[in-house]
Amino acid sequence: MKKIKVYITVMAVSVLALTSCKSKTTPLLGKSSIEDVIEAMTLEEKVALVVGTGLKFGDSIDKNSPFPIPNQPVPGSLAAKSKVYVSGAVGRTLEIPRLGVNTIEMVDGPAGVSFMSRSTAYPIGTALSSSWDVDLVHKIGECMGNETLEYGLDILLAPAINIHRNPLTGRNFEYFSEDPLLSGKMGAALVNGIQSQGAGTSLKHFVANNQETNRIEVDAIISERALREIYLKGFEIAIKESNPWTLMASYNSVNGNLATENYDLLTKVAREDWGYEGIIMSDWEAGKDPVKQMKTGLNLLMPGPYQDTVLLQAVKDKKLDEKVLDENISWILKGAMKVQKFKDYKYSNKPNLEENASIARSAAAQGMVLLKNENQALPLLDKGQNLALFGNGSYETIVGGSGSGFVMRAGPTVHIIEGLKNQNFNVSKSLEDTYTAYISENTPPTGMIDMTRGRKKRAPEMLLDEKLIQTMANESDLAIITIARISGETADRSIEGNFKLTEVELSNINNVSQAFHAKGKKVVVVLNIGGVIETASWKDLPDSILIAWQPGQEAGNSIADVLSGNVNPSGKLTASFPMKYEDEPSANNFPGTPADNPKHVIYEEGIYVGYRYYNTFGVETSYPFGFGLSYTNFSFGDLSLSSTEFKDELEASITVTNEGELSGKEVVQLYVSAPTGNLEKPVQELKAFAKTKNLAPKESQTITFKIDISSLTSFDAEESAWIAEAGQYIVKIGVSSEDIKAEKSFNLGKDRVVQKVNRALIPQVKINELSAKQ
Ligand code: BGC
Repeated sequence: MKKIKVYITVMAVSVLALTSCKSKTTPLLGKSSIEDVIEAMTLEEKVALVVGTGLKFGDSIDKNSPFPIPNQPVPGSLAAKSKVYVSGAVGRTLEIPRLGVNTIEMVDGPAGVSFMSRSTAYPIGTALSSSWDVDLVHKIGECMGNETLEYGLDILLAPAINIHRNPLTGRNFEYFSEDPLLSGKMGAALVNGIQSQGAGTSLKHFVANNQETNRIEVDAIISERALREIYLKGFEIAIKESNPWTLMASYNSVNGNLATENYDLLTKVAREDWGYEGIIMSDWEAGKDPVKQMKTGLNLLMPGPYQDTVLLQAVKDKKLDEKVLDENISWILKGAMKVQKFKDYKYSNKPNLEENASIARSAAAQGMVLLKNENQALPLLDKGQNLALFGNGSYETIVGGSGSGFVMRAGPTVHIIEGLKNQNFNVSKSLEDTYTAYISENTPPTGMIDMTRGRKKRAPEMLLDEKLIQTMANESDLAIITIARISGETADRSIEGNFKLTEVELSNINNVSQAFHAKGKKVVVVLNIGGVIETASWKDLPDSILIAWQPGQEAGNSIADVLSGNVNPSGKLTASFPMKYEDEPSANNFPGTPADNPKHVIYEEGIYVGYRYYNTFGVETSYPFGFGLSYTNFSFGDLSLSSTEFKDELEASITVTNEGELSGKEVVQLYVSAPTGNLEKPVQELKAFAKTKNLAPKESQTITFKIDISSLTSFDAEESAWIAEAGQYIVKIGVSSEDIKAEKSFNLGKDRVVQKVNRALIPQVKINELSAKQ
């Protein structure tokens, strides 16, 4: 009996000792479980961790800043004490050294590491996607990821994959396409490239941030079907194919709820339907109610730090369950363990900028789109000819858009004139002198903030007088006219003078074309633009039109590569160019009502965005989605399908042959026409694409695509399900959405419910949606 008593006492003492021992050892992230680390946090630490530490750019910047920096932490607070490791980062999370919790430092943005003044400015998103080359985009991701990592940063706030719903959207340059498949595939390629280097990404802006006008207050009212098929689809693809470390919820509302306070969007769709496993965070200062944000599934409020007191009070008042905080923190901690600071990576501060510049140069050339090339005006094989360069953009070439997507680059910009000189072209010195003097006399001064956001003021385009044009037509062999545009965050573009060419630009194109053509000389227009512009009214005038986009810091070199034929253009449009703005399916509903300060915007065009609209309703375009010429030409063999009856999968193969004299690449686009059943369908939708290798003259390549059941589905809102309807499907191989080279059909025997999802994001307002049904 005594023995047993002693035994029990010894047991009790050891248990006691063990428990008190446990409470004495402080858990450490990575060594202990996430639950233990969270349990060891004080409530103050918890509320400070779910909000960022504010806009601390680093001592040298903050102290010397000539303007007040907002979002500063309260002196002495946890956020104020949390260290800044890399100056210039645009936000970071709290570090809690006693628990081994490291900070996560974040930097913009989609065209390279922003704010560093020592990184590479890559081509804009639209330029990258116009390559239709996922391997190339992956490669650019590797370069960006490596720069992020080697500068000691953790997350690059990219890619931005919103849909080009309307050509006026100021940030379309950052985005990839009007098509969700292309957007999703490009997004996944960039994320996979960046993350392969050990740096993280932020897929943004989730979702329907398709305009800048009143982006904070506007409510995007969209049908469930259009949301799932168009606006969410790209995010779904990118999340499933690349698992970005973070997902950024946008400023706007979607169907009545702010994106950052939207349970349906964040929890039901992203977490439950798609199984997203990363940090869901807000765009910078997005949203109103931190408590609601925490409850609806937003894990991290960026950039902070002011919401912590509200959250603390809410927990104390029992308005916010501490468990909700814990759940959000667990996502942040899982994310923190992925980053280099957790792994103690010794970054070099020396990424290979020279190599990256040359990769940026080649990528830009791959994304350029040749819209027109008559009389073999291009390529400029004879380098001895004298070139007359017109347009401010020939001398001040635009590298990228403005706002957070702007990159302060390491090297100087290579303007078009320099690129051409670098390849030994003769460019008119007198015209160069005229333009240089004009630009310097007519450029208004730019303030410091605008300078750091890429909003350098520019001289208005010079109206060319007849005498100057005549002299140039006599002295030169060929004219190049550059039309330049820049747009960016917080403002959409205007129709007059931006989407449309200005009177001055039109008159310059007209007069130069007339004078040069009268002498039997050719005219090339280079479009140094970030998005769709009006082309129908003037495209007949020049011999050639090349869209160079905003090609990054190597701009002039890349453009000269294409003009000279060093690179054969193979880019294709990722958005339709309409005949006129009014033809755009969203034209009547952009930017919403009231127009000067829209509170809501109704997406009445529904699923008929871009080519889905133009093709289905037979509306003529100036240049269709998928279009782009080459200096060579390609032929297509027969399309073969592995079966005429669909079971689980189908293969489609086609052979492409280079029939011309120059080597080149072609983009093979696979569209599917689905039968109309219960659900109406667009005439066709892009379901796959591939780019050939560089084919030598007479060389062929066979491209094989796999078509799975998900390529046949449409979203049935009533059933909340993706459904493939029975009937005849047509596979079409095209070189644009309006130029189909081969087609074959197959049959699906029975309707199939491919995936049931949560009923979510139901519009609260009746939408008078466009329909193709009579
Ligand atoms: C932009 C984001 C950006 C963030 C941080 C926001 O205004 O919308 O794209 O990543 O600022 O700079």
